[in-house]
Amino acid sequence: MNRIGVFTSGGDAPGMNAAIRAVVRAGIFYNKEIVGIYRGYEGMIEGDFEEMDVRSVANILQRGGTMLKSARSKEFRTPEGRKKAFEQLKKHNIDGLIGIGGDGSFTGMHHLFLEHGLPYICIPGTIDNDIPGTDYTIGYDTATNTAVEAIDKIRDTALSHNRLFFIEVMGRDSGYIAISSGIAGGAVSIIIPEEETSIDELVEKLNRGGKKKKTSSLVIVAEGGKSGSAMEIAQKVKEKSSYFDTKVTILGHLQRGGTPTYFDRVLASKMGVAAIEGLDQGKTDVMVGIRHHDIIFNKFDDIMNQPKDIHKDDLRIAKILSI
Ligand code: F6P
Repeated sequence: MNRIGVFTSGGDAPGMNAAIRAVVRAGIFYNKEIVGIYRGYEGMIEGDFEEMDVRSVANILQRGGTMLKSARSKEFRTPEGRKKAFEQLKKHNIDGLIGIGGDGSFTGMHHLFLEHGLPYICIPGTIDNDIPGTDYTIGYDTATNTAVEAIDKIRDTALSHNRLFFIEVMGRDSGYIAISSGIAGGAVSIIIPEEETSIDELVEKLNRGGKKKKTSSLVIVAEGGKSGSAMEIAQKVKEKSSYFDTKVTILGHLQRGGTPTYFDRVLASKMGVAAIEGLDQGKTDVMVGIRHHDIIFNKFDDIMNQPKDIHKDDLRIAKILSI
């Protein structure tokens, strides 16, 4: 394999730039030509490509976002769209692909591989940490730190006004950011999609706290939960108890930006190098992962049909500490 295309796809995540840098530099180290593909699968279909060298990735290690830009492409979900993308890759003599993104990006490369035989390796990059086969995805640590910083700030004002805050964090269908930021931020309750939440039990818990002279409380709500958004849950709680002065804060895309933490930079650097080395060793249809600090390669079929469960111990710890 001599010419490798690299792209980012789906929601951007802090640390994606560090992964691009690692792919480009490790590729050049192993005498490969690296081509940057802009705007994910959209740019692949349109042939938005650029040759990359060591200097093209200078000073991006510490930057949030993705220098290659990202997109969610409807056209690439069709066989016709993938054929167009493959023709562009062939025209540019690209004989291997490294894509940085979430499960949609992995699935896209898998289909391209099945239909056109193009070898690829996926690097998991998403703040949601919702991809099985890896303990961490690039961006999750930074996003969680951002959420914790925001929670700490909200706590100051909550305390000053004796208020109950519902803070909504991202995660799509996954409760990872919620559970970790909730433990780190000392939340009284953490509502995640992976668990049923009874509004009556929540109200009872809040009332119990009130009786014990707890003057303010923070509830962390993961978006995508069955009980509804933070706004809806706050409304339901208000209907059952007028005891609290209630406010809602939605952290939203704030969690997607910012300087990546050291953890995400190192993770991205390790995964980028591993992806180049993996392709060089003939690995394909796999995603790089990290387990107990070791880099592993997961076959698409082995991991993509199973959910990534929340660590049971995290749930237990959150409950013990929020009495
Ligand atoms: O997958 C990352 C993520 O930020 C999710 O947490 C969120 O649900 C979604 O992307 C938002 O997508 P968009 O930026 O397209 O609105």
